Amino acid sequence: MEWRGKAAAIEQRSGFRYIQVMEPTFLSMLKSGRTPLYLAPQAGVSESPFRRLCRGFGADVVVSEFVSAEGIRRHDRRTHGYLQFDAAERPIGIQIFGADPAGMAEAAVLVEELYRPDFLDINFGCPVKKVVNRNGGSGCLRDLDLVQAIIRAVRGAISIPVTVKIRSGWSEDSRNPVEIARRCEDAGAEVLTLHARSRTQMYSGVANWDEIAAVVEALSIPVIGNGDVWTGADALRMREHTRCDGVMIARGSHGAPWLFTQARAALDGLPVPAEPDVPERFRVVREHARLAIAFERDEEKAMIEFRKHLGWYTKGLPNGRLLRQELFAVSTLAEAEVLLAAYQEESLAVTA
Ligand SMILES: Cc1cc2nc3c(=O)[nH]c(=O)nc-3n(C[C@H](O)[C@H](O)[C@H](O)COP(=O)(O)O)c2cc1C
Repeated sequence: MEWRGKAAAIEQRSGFRYIQVMEPTFLSMLKSGRTPLYLAPQAGVSESPFRRLCRGFGADVVVSEFVSAEGIRRHDRRTHGYLQFDAAERPIGIQIFGADPAGMAEAAVLVEELYRPDFLDINFGCPVKKVVNRNGGSGCLRDLDLVQAIIRAVRGAISIPVTVKIRSGWSEDSRNPVEIARRCEDAGAEVLTLHARSRTQMYSGVANWDEIAAVVEALSIPVIGNGDVWTGADALRMREHTRCDGVMIARGSHGAPWLFTQARAALDGLPVPAEPDVPERFRVVREHARLAIAFERDEEKAMIEFRKHLGWYTKGLPNGRLLRQELFAVSTLAEAEVLLAAYQEESLAVTA
């Protein structure tokens, strides 16, 4: 039985609010030495269908895209849409952002009460102007007292674990991942993820894995390494280089959810499965599209939003550009299936 199920049973019998004594699955996973793989929080990407798909391919933990604390408190319908998830996605974290400690705490309580995720993640990493101008995301990194006030307020308000995701610093001049991480731990963060780039780097350059290693060394809470894991071998290299407790993957999984299977094999010292062939790749495309349509309900809207995934799935394929152009014009899965089948037949004829 899941710890939450046990909690409910005990609550019912005793009439008392259960005080969590069993460790949530994802925390014990982190301490087991197995190095869980995380699907990174990603706006417009780590949505329920993709999270389910990645769980199927071996992502051990998934995180929602960042959700505005303000939107949650205003009961904005669209915002609350981002908070929905399926039981099959567990363990899942909901990530929130904002710069007002009391408002963040209030939003966290709503998330816990209405959705009961396995943990709540606070975003201190988002580099987008619209967010940092209001001191949200990585904007908070300019004021570590504020970072701590937010963590303390959230931690004091909810009973599920509170985790944080940071960048290495606001700017290159003020790059200070160890100090930021220590302040987060002192304020009560239970797990910390470091995307080892500064805010000003956005996504340029390479992630500095030495900084992940330094943070692992400095903290006693589990540390998740993040940045530039593109292959199964990268996941193993990151663990070896940093001794991190978990590995988080974002862009490497785009159009390649099987990266989690490859990363797991590499971490477990097993042969890393090859990239899937065209029929297997397209089987995954169809499965992903079906999940997206079921989630969205409006097929045409779902297929339009699915274009980015189609672009990623077909990247690098011979004559992929033409296929992409055709796929971008479809409005139903049936139309896409015809194009995929024709491409598959042609590619098999070429390789036969
Ligand atoms: C499209 C996109 C959306 C993202 N949205 C979020 C987000 O909502 N919250 C967050 O903490 N990080 C977000 N990130 C950052 C990723 O979680 C991750 O830290 C970053 O991409 C580095 O990992 P990677 O090298 O594996 O891509 C986003 C990244 C991408 C590419």
